[in-house]
Amino acid sequence: MIAHGRRVLTPEMVAEIEALAPRYPDRRAVVLPALHIVNRELRHVPLDAVVDIAEVLGFPPAEVQDTLSFYQFFHQKKPHGKVRAFVCRSIACALRGGDELLDTLCHANGIEPYGTTGDGELTIEPAECLGACDFAPCILANDDLLKNMTPEAAEAELKKPRARAT
Ligand code: FES
Repeated sequence: MIAHGRRVLTPEMVAEIEALAPRYPDRRAVVLPALHIVNRELRHVPLDAVVDIAEVLGFPPAEVQDTLSFYQFFHQKKPHGKVRAFVCRSIACALRGGDELLDTLCHANGIEPYGTTGDGELTIEPAECLGACDFAPCILANDDLLKNMTPEAAEAELKKPRARAT
């Protein structure tokens, strides 16, 4: 997707990033929201997108890449699944089977943690506390918090269609 000389970013993405700039004290603060814009559209932020964002905001690509690497949220090599499921493994969830939930779901879907199914539908990732300890163990699947999960219930829930989220 080449548009307006950019490698990856569409004119719409560039316009959305530019529109954010006046709302922040300096353009450096726009880097993170820009990464989220690209991730929302592409489900990952490839290196070429980093170069594009840097060009739009007027920074060296290394600065944008530093921000991306720091957050460890953005996939870079290939898109995450249409459903991105964060399985909590912090203490409250771990005590109620969070680790087993993660292992069982990964095994059932034939992937390792952080992996994506071959059909591109599902990525499963371990996560730190989701702020819903009363409902342990829980999973954040795109925008949906799945509470009191068993492996069976989680497997069924993750097959349901969901709104896209980054
Ligand atoms: S420990 Fe899992 S939501 Fe808090």
